[in-house]
Amino acid sequence: MGFFKLTIRDVPLDNQVVLVRADYNVPLNSEGKISDDLRIKASLPTLHYLHDHNCKIVIMSHLGRPEGRDPKFSLKQVATRLSELMDHPVIFVDDTIGDKVKQAIKQAPAHSIILLENLRYYKEEEADDEGFAKNIAASTGARYFVQDGFGVVHRAHASTHAITLCIPSVSGLLLEREYTTITGAMQNPERPLVAVMGGAKIGDKIAVIERFVEVADKIIIGGAMANTFLAYKGVAMGASKLESDQNETLDRIYHAAHEKVGDDVDNFIILPSDVAVATEISPESPRKNVALDQIGAEDIVLDVGDASIEKIVEVVADAKTVIWNGTLGYAELPEFAHGSARLALSLATQPQTTSIIGGGDTADFVLKWDSADGASFTHVSTGGGASLELMAGDKLPGIESLLDARK
Ligand code: 3PG
Repeated sequence: MGFFKLTIRDVPLDNQVVLVRADYNVPLNSEGKISDDLRIKASLPTLHYLHDHNCKIVIMSHLGRPEGRDPKFSLKQVATRLSELMDHPVIFVDDTIGDKVKQAIKQAPAHSIILLENLRYYKEEEADDEGFAKNIAASTGARYFVQDGFGVVHRAHASTHAITLCIPSVSGLLLEREYTTITGAMQNPERPLVAVMGGAKIGDKIAVIERFVEVADKIIIGGAMANTFLAYKGVAMGASKLESDQNETLDRIYHAAHEKVGDDVDNFIILPSDVAVATEISPESPRKNVALDQIGAEDIVLDVGDASIEKIVEVVADAKTVIWNGTLGYAELPEFAHGSARLALSLATQPQTTSIIGGGDTADFVLKWDSADGASFTHVSTGGGASLELMAGDKLPGIESLLDARK
């Protein structure tokens, strides 16, 4: 699947100042330190390419959702980590626009890597403010803008949209890889294509589930999402987390599934046939496996059950492509991470299967679990909302606004 936008390989950017939008919105632990640097590592191929082409690289990003200049969300520690990973100094500038930025870039020698402070310290960023984007362009003096923050391209913000009206704008290598891998698997997969959907809510993933009803050969449902599906089918779910307002959505999904596969629906949308429960969500709660008709009034369903896990592994073993979005249980607690761990293990040991792991919680889970840092899978996406919107077939403003590739 080719890419429809110009990339850094297509423009003469040697020796130029190049402005890169990365998504360094990294998870922070309770001490405020970076707990996972996938997104920083994923930006390295583009940075190395620009470095090899003698560019002065100016990077901008957001971190978190700060209200004003909250030091908790400073990108300073990202500069330190980036410099370790690049094995090159990274100059951190504690502003995003203005004289400080201008001077720092002017004084920095060729080959420098400069990281600007959190874009979201300015409310103009999320407002897609053109004046703010013009200010970034003028302060940095960049000749090209490179969009490589895949995780944020579903937002129309100043650094993903307005900036492209000010500077010739092309894609970085991460964005290109995310786009071609994900849309390739959705539009032209090696079949059978199995979609695995989990996580907390159907509400966040309706468009993706509906798209999978069109394109997938089987859809496995787990996580708290499965509770809502099972309740819709009439199973008494005890004290489990449910979305009671999704019946119309489920009517629509099952109607579309029926149109596609007729009476084989339950073999197309595969729900758990048993579940793991506890009466409390706590690290001390033991895992109790029960059949669907044995879920007690006090029980909270926290994982797919053991027989369901075997079924999932079997279905996935026959797949040529698997796209996985959302953990299959309450994976923060090891007792209820069995389903997700077995699925991850199956995919990791099936190198002949194209495995695409959606970003957000699913990516966090497989990265904690995978000693190969995600390399056991074909692709671990750096985008949460962005990967879901791309899978749903939406046009993403941070991609659409880049220069088109010549046909
Ligand atoms: C993400 O983590 O999904 C992106 O960085 C976007 O962040 P946001 O949801 O705060 O816009």
